[in-house]
Amino acid sequence: MNFEVFDKKIKEIEADCEIVLIVNKNLTHRWIEGGDEFEKYGFSGKSEESLFLPHKNILYYGCKSFESDEVRCSVSNAFKVLEKMKYSSVKIGLYTQKCPPINARALVEGVILGTYKFDKYKSKKSNLYIKNIKISTEDYNGKIYNLDSTKKAVNEAIIIADATNDAKDIINITPFDMTPAKLADYAKDMAKDLKNVECFVGDEEFLNSENMGAFLAVARASSNKPRLIHLSYKPKISTKRFVFVGKGLTYDSGGLSLKPSEYMVTMKSDKSGAAAAINIIKAASRLELPFEVHSIIGAAENMIGGNAYKPDDVLIARNKKTIEVRNTDAEGRLVLADCLDYAQELEPDYLVDLATLTGACVVALGEYTVGIMGNNSTLKHSMIQSSLKSGELSGSLPFNKYLKKLLKSDIADISNISSSRYGGAITAGIFLDNFIKDEYKDKWLHLDIAGPAYREKEWGYNQSGASGAGVRMCVYWLKDFAYKQSNVHDEDK
Ligand code: BES
Ligand code: ZN
Ligand code: ZN
Repeated sequence: MNFEVFDKKIKEIEADCEIVLIVNKNLTHRWIEGGDEFEKYGFSGKSEESLFLPHKNILYYGCKSFESDEVRCSVSNAFKVLEKMKYSSVKIGLYTQKCPPINARALVEGVILGTYKFDKYKSKKSNLYIKNIKISTEDYNGKIYNLDSTKKAVNEAIIIADATNDAKDIINITPFDMTPAKLADYAKDMAKDLKNVECFVGDEEFLNSENMGAFLAVARASSNKPRLIHLSYKPKISTKRFVFVGKGLTYDSGGLSLKPSEYMVTMKSDKSGAAAAINIIKAASRLELPFEVHSIIGAAENMIGGNAYKPDDVLIARNKKTIEVRNTDAEGRLVLADCLDYAQELEPDYLVDLATLTGACVVALGEYTVGIMGNNSTLKHSMIQSSLKSGELSGSLPFNKYLKKLLKSDIADISNISSSRYGGAITAGIFLDNFIKDEYKDKWLHLDIAGPAYREKEWGYNQSGASGAGVRMCVYWLKDFAYKQSNVHDEDK
């Protein structure tokens, strides 16, 4: 798909068809023609209502407001209406009173995210007829808005939405085709094509040399051997160092604490944190962000076998803490414990882990919301703000000293599960906190993406399957840091 931005009135742009967003049921603006026809076909312009006029090649689509996520959803839905028609180009205006680039961004993200298809395993491949999308910068009052800032917004939106869709691919690919070794190859290949990006891959021997006893135990029973993947983006000039850590369970059968069959299906999605961390690097490099960004991925399969780790085992983590295993299905936190310890050696200014860590997080916040945990409420708040702008939903889950006690073990330093059935998302977060050193406590965030990462029904502009959760919120968060920094510099001048 090709996006073009024009500093021309929408009427002057040539295209096979046009999408007109009717915002807040306002059918009387200057750019909207065909009042009679609205009445004739009973179109009131309410949210999610559409009217297609074939003789005019126009699709009207009801959009609640100019709020970014309303625009993303409406544009994505409008494209669904046009998808089967044989139009190869479509034009659309920004028509906003506020800030046209913000709308341009949402519009492009809505198109790219909404038209994603995963057909790798289908004999019949889908193909979208629309090839060219032409955007006019005409605003609410018929004024033509600045071309450069809109073009910049469109380019950024393409990078962010593409990275999100690439994360979806990694997650949707089957566990047979995306083993830890293949995920590592994917990351290496990706790094080759990106500016200032390098990729280091450590195998089982490397994990042994690093004393990653918790990570190794989880991986032991699988014939698909584990990998630690370290991607780094280092621009020439950098002011901060961000480190992301991704849970990369290419399959989670539960191990000896085996999952019931209905819960096991979809567990190829347990690599969603890894997919996000890999694609945050891709976006950071393509956006040329002024920060060093690293991603550490713990890739393994949680399987059963004669040499599987067991409930009752005591593991020694990389930081020498001992962990009593009481449930082998609480494996993500074991892999992350060692990866987080490794990540802190990079001396990050900010450390963020992304993981499909607990079913309890889905119970707590619902299927669509990322759970944000950590010790620094300002930092949590900054991520929530950025996620809202990005169109991802997130909510803060608070640690407390009573839940902390539930991880006590009689035999080891800590147990891998809580002794209570309640508050499981938070106790998992507190488990991870035990592997964060004092100097990084306030620099760390834990994102539990178990809900939105993978759903077997479509929602908004997300398809059934993977959503690429975590990519957009983290990239918007990084961009917000860059923006704040450039403003500070401007004031300095
Ligand atoms: N990968 C799962 C969590 C999960 C559940 C992700 C549903 C996506 C959707 C994780 O490894 C797990 O199995 N967690 C257990 C923890 C429990 C044993 C304390 C869970 O949530 O049941
Ligand atoms: Zn599990
Ligand atoms: Zn898991």
